[in-house]
Amino acid sequence: MFAWDSDWFFFFCKQTLVCMNAWSRLEEILMIVCSFGHVCCTCRPKGDVYKSLQLLEVSKQILIENDRGGYTIPAKGLYPYQWNWDSALVALGWATLDEGRAWQELEKLFSAQWEDGLVPHIVFHQPSPTYFPGPEIWGSVEQPMGSTGITQPPVAAITVRKLYETALNKELALQKLKELFPKLLAWHRWFQSARDPENTGLVATLHPWESGMDNSPAWDEALYNVPVDQIPPYVRKDLGHVDSAMRPKQEEYDRYLTLLYRFRAVNYDCNQLYFLSPFRVTDLCTNSVLYRANLDLRWLANELGQDQIAEEVDGWIKKARIAFDSLYDEEAGLYKSKDQLTGELVTAKTSAGFLPLFARVASASQAADLAATLERWLKRVKHGIPSYDPESSNFEPLRYWRGPVWVIINWMITDGLRAYGYEDLALRVEADTYELLVSHGINEYYDPVTGAAAGGKLFSWTAAMCLAWLSKGDGAHPAAAH
Ligand code: DGY
Repeated sequence: MFAWDSDWFFFFCKQTLVCMNAWSRLEEILMIVCSFGHVCCTCRPKGDVYKSLQLLEVSKQILIENDRGGYTIPAKGLYPYQWNWDSALVALGWATLDEGRAWQELEKLFSAQWEDGLVPHIVFHQPSPTYFPGPEIWGSVEQPMGSTGITQPPVAAITVRKLYETALNKELALQKLKELFPKLLAWHRWFQSARDPENTGLVATLHPWESGMDNSPAWDEALYNVPVDQIPPYVRKDLGHVDSAMRPKQEEYDRYLTLLYRFRAVNYDCNQLYFLSPFRVTDLCTNSVLYRANLDLRWLANELGQDQIAEEVDGWIKKARIAFDSLYDEEAGLYKSKDQLTGELVTAKTSAGFLPLFARVASASQAADLAATLERWLKRVKHGIPSYDPESSNFEPLRYWRGPVWVIINWMITDGLRAYGYEDLALRVEADTYELLVSHGINEYYDPVTGAAAGGKLFSWTAAMCLAWLSKGDGAHPAAAH
């Protein structure tokens, strides 16, 4: 551990108190000092403590600014509602500031859970004129919907375990766990029944928005097989907030909307969507997050003495474990998503291909291949991890999910690298991430070649990752390993 001299120590404590006046407990300060000690001694010069403090303060202010009363919007204007996986990650940031507020973030998300168990990808708590497609498109002008009718990668169980295990207020944590557990279980059961009705072990994603990686090149083939329907004319609002060079193209939006209207026509009936959707993929991100979330759900079930449920979840894990191998492309040294309608693995190599490390579902030799592939990618860019293979001819360093670096994905992949013993590689990615945050601010994503900030500004989940990473030295749950 880094040895702090006493002057530094007292200066640091004072600064911490000044900057974060809500943090008054010595225990917390010591925790911060320790985590900075870890960061400082391993990958950056000691002087960066000032920058780290600034980053923490800015991140905290972003969460406060984006707080809409119990839930956090991802970014003003561009994303003015509550997004599912954003919120589950944002809760990890809140936990470093206010545990009660972190639990509330999840409670608000689950307040929109559907009767069938689905937890929607967006919850429209209050109207907003700055986003399209809003509640009146998912529903109708006469009857706007309270949420979308699709989902997103199920990060929440992972967050609940982290909040529960690291809670200072244990009593509150146990109470919240008891309240949230049945809701998490209902959502995970929904994934099994609605998204794997054929019992393959892996779940289907029916809209690129469900993957969270909307216009990843992984969807190109499957999305271009979706015929564009006659849909009502529409005006995109995202382009009023972010340069079009950083956003999905019109031909992709037409297909996003086509899918939305087709799903709306059957009232988002989960028993029909799987069979009627012209877009159906096995998304690596959703399946990796779900696998990891199931490990954590099983752990939580055991913690609550719910043995039968733990067994049920264990069954899903076992099935998925076998099925995951069908997504491994040995020649590429990477996992790949699959188009379920053609039965083919997609050609695109994306950063989601490393997420089986976060899931803990890769074998030791697959993990070694993934680490080698990642090292090769990192040699091609200044800042890792690009979201798309930088060796590919259509790598676009600035366009949404077609090249840029995402801090949340770096957080997941470094967690996985560490769990498999690739500490140096994890540190390299953390150092890159830190450099991006310090030099370019808290944005939605970053250009891996130049480091330039891109997408939405003052972005909540980037701020939250920064808080979680720097404040608590957040890492993997060793106990979650299979
Ligand atoms: C958007 O509107 O860009 C969102 O990513 C949908 O979730």
